[in-house]
Amino acid sequence: MTVRAIWAQARDDEGRSVIGLDGTMPWNLPEDLARFQQLTAGGVVIMGRRTWESLPPRFRPLPRRTNVVVSRHENTFPGAASASSLSAALDVAEELDPDVTCWVIGGSGLLAEAMTIADVLQVTEIDLEVAGDTYAPPVDARRWSADAGEWATSRTGLRHRFVTYHRVA
Ligand SMILES: NC(=O)c1ccc[n+]([C@@H]2O[C@H](COP(=O)([O-])OP(=O)(O)OC[C@H]3O[C@@H](n4cnc5c(N)ncnc54)[C@H](OP(=O)(O)O)[C@@H]3O)[C@@H](O)[C@H]2O)c1
Repeated sequence: MTVRAIWAQARDDEGRSVIGLDGTMPWNLPEDLARFQQLTAGGVVIMGRRTWESLPPRFRPLPRRTNVVVSRHENTFPGAASASSLSAALDVAEELDPDVTCWVIGGSGLLAEAMTIADVLQVTEIDLEVAGDTYAPPVDARRWSADAGEWATSRTGLRHRFVTYHRVA
């Protein structure tokens, strides 16, 4: 089974990598959503309970993917499987299909945990300074080799680029 992580980040005034604010993503970047759909379609998406709650109800569960929601409590998430830890979520995925690609899609703690086992990180960098309350884990340049795409401007005006990190150590 393959484990990957995917997120989009801007930065705050202290240079931290913001991924969320008040239970949502504080930007509108359709190109990021399109890339997310393209990369994760057909796979398993694993997310924390608050990320599940952040999805607009009409996109919950995310279509054309198996959704697994991680919670320490006995919650049910209509249309999604639940698991009490990341490793339990990976067990759920493995049982469904040992060859599937699992995408850990947030939030903070699960991304950090996924980085210890993932082979690839797909990061959308947004050239925007914004306040946040949820942050991406730092990517250690000694462990990850970056392949950065060109900067582009969204139809919403946001400069962004897609960076693929491959594990080197
Ligand atoms: N920019 C992006 O790409 C991106 C991606 C995803 C999310 N977000 C944003 O990030 C924010 C949500 O992220 P978050 O970090 O606050 O929360 P989160 O990780 O989505 O959810 C936290 C909850 O998930 C459960 N959980 C997390 N790790 C667990 C573990 N190891 N074992 C068992 N349960 C675990 C717990 O649920 P219980 O409390 O039920 O036990 C915990 O309270 C939102 O603002 C969202 O919009 C942004």
